[in-house]
Amino acid sequence: MLPHNIRLETLAVHAGMEGVLESGQHVPSIDLSTTNPLPSIEVGGDSYENLATGNPIIEGHSAVYQRLWQPGVARFEDGLAALEGAEAAVAYASGMAAMAAVLISIASAGRPHVVGVRPLYGGTDHVLDNGLLGTTVTWADADSVADAIQSDTGLVVIESPANPTLELVDIRKIVSAAGDVPVLVDNTFATPVLQRPIEFGATMVLHSATKYLGGHGDVMGGVIATSEAHAKTLRNIRALTGGVLHPFAAYLLHRGLRTLPLRVRGQQETAGELARRLDGHPALARVLYPGLPGQDPAGLIGTQSAGAGSLIALDLAGGYEAAAKFTESVKLITHAVSLGGIDTLVQHPASLTHRPVASEAKPGAGVVRISVGLEHVDDLMNDITAALDEVSNG
Ligand SMILES: Cc1ncc(COP(=O)(O)O)c(C=O)c1O
Repeated sequence: MLPHNIRLETLAVHAGMEGVLESGQHVPSIDLSTTNPLPSIEVGGDSYENLATGNPIIEGHSAVYQRLWQPGVARFEDGLAALEGAEAAVAYASGMAAMAAVLISIASAGRPHVVGVRPLYGGTDHVLDNGLLGTTVTWADADSVADAIQSDTGLVVIESPANPTLELVDIRKIVSAAGDVPVLVDNTFATPVLQRPIEFGATMVLHSATKYLGGHGDVMGGVIATSEAHAKTLRNIRALTGGVLHPFAAYLLHRGLRTLPLRVRGQQETAGELARRLDGHPALARVLYPGLPGQDPAGLIGTQSAGAGSLIALDLAGGYEAAAKFTESVKLITHAVSLGGIDTLVQHPASLTHRPVASEAKPGAGVVRISVGLEHVDDLMNDITAALDEVSNG
């Protein structure tokens, strides 16, 4: 048992590691079993019944089958739940699989209406807008959430910082406007190192674990941190729909948690410095970064989050052509989607991550989003300014 007043850095290193040292190992082993021995038909049956209905495993029971329970996945879930201050967490094959499970849970409970606060990640926007999973949506901004709630509203969805404009959304204000309706916060950009939405009353916290939690661009996963009651429903849906996390992915994600505070803070420091140095560059209409003066009007940095994060968006004065030239001109930075890894990536949201988003909510044509990694700030600055020179020279 870890002491209850333990700090985040210590939790990140030790949470989810229970019993490892006692078993004679230093790190957990990766159990690839898809099926597990059953001590008897009776215990097997009881184990199955318990897990298939979404409960955590009971001591002395069998894990039965990998789709129902997997020890490495459970370790990652325990670690993430501890960092988010949640009772439980449920992991999936990807962030979108996690979102799909939440949407199935509200649609099947007869409350299929969602209030979505734009901007959201393009995939989330798309699945809400097209109603593929039987949900309906009303798009709102932070001030119109209360008016958008209906008798069948099952969920309010927000992101802060939002993707890709990096606007901060006041979680307490949304929770209060939502009343009894559960609020899901996509915390992918902030991570629990900078922001723990459950402390502000959020019901569910979603991560594309593919991003900062893994942190090295080599593992895909998703996770929801929430109450045990919601976790039970989400495990039940996972067992029936099969969007499970692979044990090796779970191992990498759990390992990623252990360096998360250091990576997030290191990347954030560089991003802040780059944003300050680039602000006012003649090739840029705007630098979007909540840590810049005037970009956090509600004062949420320091009251809701411990920092502005490590994503910055550059709005190129020359629009689409300039954005295209910029992404082709960077050398150290890789032109690729995704974010949150140790190497710096740039992408054009309107063409890629936010391509399916309706035109009224699409990011500007000149906007490129940069996920700042762990390289030296001067090397990144040199790469960016050289690419901006190429843009200016045509
Ligand atoms: C903020 C955010 N949420 C959710 C997702 C979806 O996660 P995944 O790609 O792991 O399915 C992404 C992916 O880019 C994202 O950026």
